[in-house]
Amino acid sequence: MIIAPSILSADLYNLENDLKKIGNADWIHIDSMDGVFVNNLTFGSNIVHAIRPHTDQLLDCHLMVDRPEKYIDAYAEAGADIITIHYEATPHPHRVLQQIREKGIRAGISINPGTSVEAIKALLPFVDLVLVMTVNPGFGGQSFIPEMLDKVSLLSDLRRINSYSFYIQVDGGVTNETAVDCVEAGADCLVSGSYVFNQEDPQEAISHMQNL
Ligand code: DX5
Ligand code: ZN
Repeated sequence: MIIAPSILSADLYNLENDLKKIGNADWIHIDSMDGVFVNNLTFGSNIVHAIRPHTDQLLDCHLMVDRPEKYIDAYAEAGADIITIHYEATPHPHRVLQQIREKGIRAGISINPGTSVEAIKALLPFVDLVLVMTVNPGFGGQSFIPEMLDKVSLLSDLRRINSYSFYIQVDGGVTNETAVDCVEAGADCLVSGSYVFNQEDPQEAISHMQNL
């Protein structure tokens, strides 16, 4: 299981130290919010640029921003490994996914709780990752919405039937307990923010989930 702690829950004043706390994680999940697509503002490609020289962990950039096409070049230049855009954030998701892949970066598509898997069916041949939101995007520390796991199972079936190879990622309210349900439904990458960073030993929490 790939574990991607979200630095939305890290101490930004002490980011170097908090990145050490998650040093055994496979990926680092970076939540960009623009105050338009979601009601919150966080960071942009500048934080990717800042972290990039200090780690070999994959930088997994989750863009909760309107019209993500405007920012792909900047994230590519900053050193992103994966860029996930929201299906709901642009009228041209297919074009943006192409734009990401043309930069040699893995392209992900994310769906809000109110969006069905059917909506992104036509995009599945063109993605490296599908992110199923298990909270409404915008804030860390919200409760997991278990009904979303049906989407994970459906994606897992579609992947098998069509021989696709995208990762299935789950984000929002992931704890050691909800992680078990995500794995059973067919997820292979879990984002966890508040749970991981609130543990006394985040590395232990990460390795526990890695072994699920
Ligand atoms: C939510 C973000 C998540 C969030 C997860 O809008 O996309 O990545 O940081 O935080 P937790 O694990 O606290 O729900
Ligand atoms: Zn996220």
